[in-house]
Parts: sequence; C-alpha cells; structure tokens
Amino acid sequence: MATAPSATSQASHDCPPLKPHYSFGQRCRSLYHELWFRLSEGIRWSRRPYHEIPAGRLTELSPWQTTRIDGLRTRYGLAFESLYSRHTALANYNYLDVLDQAWMRMDRPIPRHGIVTDVGCANFWYARTLHAFFRPATLKGVDVEGFRLYPTGYSRYDAVAGYIADLPQTSFVVANYCELEDQADVITAWFPFVTPAPVLAWRLPLTVFSPEQLCARIARNLAPDGTFFMVNQGVEEAATAAAYCRRAGLRSVGQWIHPQPLRARPHPPVASCWAKS
Ligand SMILES: C[S@@+](CC[C@H](N)C(=O)[O-])C[C@H]1O[C@@H](n2cnc3c(N)ncnc32)[C@H](O)[C@@H]1O
Repeated sequence: MATAPSATSQASHDCPPLKPHYSFGQRCRSLYHELWFRLSEGIRWSRRPYHEIPAGRLTELSPWQTTRIDGLRTRYGLAFESLYSRHTALANYNYLDVLDQAWMRMDRPIPRHGIVTDVGCANFWYARTLHAFFRPATLKGVDVEGFRLYPTGYSRYDAVAGYIADLPQTSFVVANYCELEDQADVITAWFPFVTPAPVLAWRLPLTVFSPEQLCARIARNLAPDGTFFMVNQGVEEAATAAAYCRRAGLRSVGQWIHPQPLRARPHPPVASCWAKS
C-alpha cells in the first residue's frame, strides 16, 4: 500500500511539480529496483494459478467489525473467508465496505453492468470485490508489473490467475496504463502513486512514477458518461491526486473520507468520484 509522502514529495498539493526532484539516495534505490523489475519482466516466471488456503472462519474481530462484515455478506452474498486467508478476506471486506459506503454517502447511482478497468491492480486480490459491487460486463486489471516473484516461488501472474480463475469476463493485462488505449465506463484506482516515496517502498523504479500521464490517460480512456473512482491514503495524498485529476481535465463529483475502515490505517481512506469536464 502507499505510504506517507516523503519530505521532497510534499512540496505542493495544489500544484504538484511536473518534474519532481529526486535525492541521490532515491535515485540509487530506484536503479536497484529497476534492475529487479526489468529482470522479472524479462524472465516472466509463471508456474500455475496460485490459490490461497481459506481461513474458513474469521475470528478475533471486534463486535462492530463482525456486524459490518455480516451486513456485507448478506448484501453481496459473499464469504471471502471461504476462499481466502484471513488477511486477504479482511482486506476484501475492507475494500467492499469502502465501495459500499462511499457510493451511498456520495449519493451516486452505482454504474453497474459496464466495462470496468482497475488501474494498478497489483495481483488483483480484490477482483472479486469489484465484481460483486459493479457486476461488470467485463472487468480488467492492469498493472505495469506482472511477474514479481514471491517467496512462495509463485509470481504475481500466478496469484492473479488464482484470484480471477472463476470470475466471468475478467482479465489481467501487464502494461503501463499510460500507454493503453482502453475505453471504460468505470475506471478505478486504489492508492495510485501520486508521490515518489511509495513507489520505492513498493520496490519499483521511479521510471514508473508518472501521475501526470496516468491521470491524462484515465481522462482520455473514460467513456463520455463514465466515472473514475479513486481511493487515496489520507487527505494530503487525496489533495495531491485531486490536483493531477483536475489538471487532466476531470471534475470532482464527490468525495468521502472513511471514518472507521475495517482495517486500521495510519491515514483514513479518502474515496472520490470524477467525471469528464
Ligand atoms: C500502491 S500500489 C496499489 C495496488 C492495488 N491497487 C491495491 O490497492 O492493493 C500501486 C500499483 O500501481 C501499479 N502501477 C504504477 N504505475 C502504473 C502504471 N503506469 N500502469 C499500471 N500500473 C501501475 C504498481 O505496480 C502497483 O502495483
């Protein structure tokens, strides 16, 4: 997940610099990550779809968490713990809760049955959540890094294959979204990089950090009546992301700060909806 912005990245939230300045240390770390990134994308290691060992039941939850999760289970007919580990199951309930509450609080109709693209989906562990919420005609996850190798010996590609195996009309594309021609009715982005520090924390090179181009491409790929749904970590990061969105020609149609997410974070998730200007 994205972490707090670094001192160098906090320069201005209203007008982020077009060319950020990187310290010597940041550039060294970036070069190191670049090496591994290029290696894994060159080798494209893949064994077979990876399936988690299901937790079965979720225990040790506080009463308010149990109540909220029970509500989501009933409303969406899902039980993530029957498919995923405790960590992934809770994380999915958390994202579903954000979606569920954000659209209600922003008082917006949920755009169901459309073409949905998630930008920067990592291993797409939350594909089932997006599927349950948007009931899409098609669902596509896009990530610039597809073949990161995990300590289990499986790659990100294998993990994605497991997560989307039984989801209809769902796919994963390894690509730099900034270069993708791909119109969609709904585009989602959960914790996109809008400052450089989280890029390095995710062990990626700074060459993939291009929030300006990313937002421009989102604006370009969004269908005329489409919605861009974004979640950022904390109000500062959300303000930085909003500046990029506005610069790309998107207009804000709603924002909501989650007061009590199912999984505690140092900064509250800030959800926002955007439309073409
Ligand atoms: C902070 S992570 C968030 C991952 C995921 N959305 C989640 O909530 O767990 C950002 C992700 O965006 C991906 N990413 C960054 N730049 C990208 C680009 N230009 N095109 C596609 N994916 C990108 C990264 O590889 C990383 O997986």
